[in-house]
Amino acid sequence: MNKSLKVFSLFLIAIILIASCSGRKKKKPTSESTLSTYYQEQYRPQFHFSPEAKWMNDPNGLVYFDGEYHLFYQYYPDSTVWGPMHWGHAVSRDLLHWKHLPIALYPDSLGYIFSGSAVVDLTNTSGFGSADNPPMVAIFTYHNPVLEKSGSIKFQNQGIAYSLDKGRTWLKYSANPVLKNPGIRDFRDPKMFWNDKAKKWNLIMAVYDRVHIYSSSNLKTWTFESEFGSGIGAHGGVWECPDLFPLKVEGGETEKWVMLVSINPGGPNKGSATQYFTGEFDGHTFVPDESGEKWIDWGRDNYAGVTWSNIPVSDGRRIFIGWMSNWNYATVVPTSVWRSALTLPRELSLKLEDEHFFLTSKPVTELGNLRIATDTISIKQLSFSGEKEIPTGNLSLMQSEMLFGFTLSDNKTDSLGIILGNSFNERFIIGYSVIRKQFYTDRRNAGNSGFSKEFAGISVAPYKAGSVLKMHILIDASSVELFVDDGRLVMTTLVFPNEKFTWLKLFSKGGTGSLNKAAFHGLEKIW
Ligand code: FRU
Repeated sequence: MNKSLKVFSLFLIAIILIASCSGRKKKKPTSESTLSTYYQEQYRPQFHFSPEAKWMNDPNGLVYFDGEYHLFYQYYPDSTVWGPMHWGHAVSRDLLHWKHLPIALYPDSLGYIFSGSAVVDLTNTSGFGSADNPPMVAIFTYHNPVLEKSGSIKFQNQGIAYSLDKGRTWLKYSANPVLKNPGIRDFRDPKMFWNDKAKKWNLIMAVYDRVHIYSSSNLKTWTFESEFGSGIGAHGGVWECPDLFPLKVEGGETEKWVMLVSINPGGPNKGSATQYFTGEFDGHTFVPDESGEKWIDWGRDNYAGVTWSNIPVSDGRRIFIGWMSNWNYATVVPTSVWRSALTLPRELSLKLEDEHFFLTSKPVTELGNLRIATDTISIKQLSFSGEKEIPTGNLSLMQSEMLFGFTLSDNKTDSLGIILGNSFNERFIIGYSVIRKQFYTDRRNAGNSGFSKEFAGISVAPYKAGSVLKMHILIDASSVELFVDDGRLVMTTLVFPNEKFTWLKLFSKGGTGSLNKAAFHGLEKIW
């Protein structure tokens, strides 16, 4: 190559390089603008888990391993309505900030991948891993649509899969299914756990209107132990997504077993909801303390919730998360890119009062880390009657936490509570009726509800308040979670205002309401 040709080609290369660099530069604003709209759609939760895109329902396979909380979930990657189910996957180190991972389980010739659970097989009882590298094992329901169409009733069977790389990739067991359908249409949602007292694996699953309990020494062969539920608890619909775990009663050494059972329909405020039982369990049979109905959450939008397994003993918490929707309208709620979010992770506790055991739920304490220090408002004692607006400064109400302490001293008060509203005069009300001894949330005039006639309405929950009433409220774009008196009563409610709520009022009917104190915190977004 002669010299001038060399210079010319060097010049050409330089031009090409500059062009490609400036090309890259040009691209940057596009990707930045994509970034700035990430998780910014109308109604997109800012501090709750939701999939980047498409349909999600139940949380699945909740398991803690090596510093990570794993969250799998019922996922349909091709549409924003339910379809052939996969297991989506995300991990978190603090239960708040989630990292999306690739889909963990795809449907195969045995069927769609319905709900299930996961464990860490620490001593390698399954033989899928080794003592040094214990496998994560998942169990799920294979729902076979071909069999279903053919008229067979045996289209739901349980399969397992394992991972040797901390849940990043999964292999399905070659001898699936491990638990075959005995001839019952609804035979699904296995939750397995290590029973430390019985020194074996147990499994509880939903079988039409009851649960079945099994045991195993290796996660591959399951032996039927007993059934529970006929004629006990709520039976307005089919039983789904059970869970069973021991929990210490607060303030003592007593341990009880708690069984969660989701039911759809037949919830206390219509549609889907989750009931629970307390009792004794010896690895074979569950014996309930009581046979009445108890609900983990009285709102309309907490379903199919279950708890994490393998949380270190040093932590010791029992942490629950639910699907923040209701089958009555889940597929038509007005979101576009994605559909559905999960509740905040909640710590469950057990209390004994008047010889009854009951569950309380509180948002996990990690939530405190999201509080924006410069975005805090404190309100001191004040009295109110009728409706009284409370100044909230620059606080973004739709991404906030509110704590109220009321004193119920005026025995003329019929009801009191709070109203969130906007300039369209859409109002979401949370109230306590002193007369009826009832909490309620009212979303009749709170925004968009035209997508389903089942959506608007009042949800009520019986509650006997003492002389002090505490309300802890988390508001996030399209959901309101209410925790009363340290989680003794919970109500989770979706709401789709046409404009963000911008004002807050206290209200009292009948007599004068008395607020002891209140604190409001803006919360950081997690995405
Ligand atoms: C509960 C449920 C489960 C089933 C899954 C299917 O919401 O109906 O019983 O496994 O959803 O997506």
